[in-house]
Amino acid sequence: MAREEDVDDHLMVLAGPASARLGVEVCEILRVAPAVYECRRFPDGEMQVEIQESIRGCDVFLLQSTGPPVEQHLMELLLLADACRRAGAGRLTAVIPYLGYARQDRRMGRRSLGARVVADVIGTARFDRLMLIDAHTPAIEGYFDIPVEHLTAVPLLARAAAPSLRDTSVVVAPDFGAVKLARAYARLLQVPMAFVHKTRLDGDAVEAHGVIGDVHARLPLIVDDMLSTGGTLAAAIGALRAAGAVEPMTVAVTHALLAGRAREILRTLPLTRFIAADTVAIEPPAVPYLEVTSVAPLIATAIRRDHRDESLADLRVPA
Ligand code: R5P
Repeated sequence: MAREEDVDDHLMVLAGPASARLGVEVCEILRVAPAVYECRRFPDGEMQVEIQESIRGCDVFLLQSTGPPVEQHLMELLLLADACRRAGAGRLTAVIPYLGYARQDRRMGRRSLGARVVADVIGTARFDRLMLIDAHTPAIEGYFDIPVEHLTAVPLLARAAAPSLRDTSVVVAPDFGAVKLARAYARLLQVPMAFVHKTRLDGDAVEAHGVIGDVHARLPLIVDDMLSTGGTLAAAIGALRAAGAVEPMTVAVTHALLAGRAREILRTLPLTRFIAADTVAIEPPAVPYLEVTSVAPLIATAIRRDHRDESLADLRVPA
């Protein structure tokens, strides 16, 4: 993922408000100036965006995560997409490093199916393509009518986690949903894996029933697609402790939402490192043990290759 020297002037990167910092890094790597726009808010709370330079005929990559506050960031994405289309963008790709609502991917009882609703709404924005990073489920691709490039930050995060590995290390998925992701880490790092049997009781309450796999006297590297409230992680660590795992442990996640009491919970856990990608902007106050790994090189490489019609195969979530 080297720095780019020769990206042509038809490539445009527009970093939405939710991904402004990440956008600057991506543009530095690609050696392009971020597209200039203005985002206004009216007294009644409504927003309006205006692109402030010509993007006519350009290959536009609109970078915007839809992390909290999800509804605001989603609306910004839609307005920016509309402005790009009306301003004559030649091709428009949404780069959504974190896709909000992706966890609501199965209907239960009479509940709404948020992932489908969000996919439908994004579908109305007339994007040509979509890039996601470690979306909650690979099946999300099927929710969209447009082509989806499902990229993964696991190689970047695994590289960051590697110095913590010992002969006794084991990669641990804190629930069954993270097993595929854990397998990718385990393969890259050449260590065995285990997983925790968890059930979710509520938005911020989970229960761990036990560990499947050998973790006794082993040093866990706990991996997940996201950390929201920290409930899953705390429950997993409880189960690992009960099973005789070694402490302090390392955690790696792609999306650090840090909702609710996450910071407080993290402070109570026997961790030595909390490695997280910057798919969602991490704001103060300080997060215990945090080490941020940037996904800017991944996004820049994907944009550059997509712009040049080159393969993205090695950047995707493995099948
Ligand atoms: C669940 O299926 C996800 O992969 C995460 O484990 C979960 O959403 C994290 O949320 P929290 O930190 O609130 O438990």
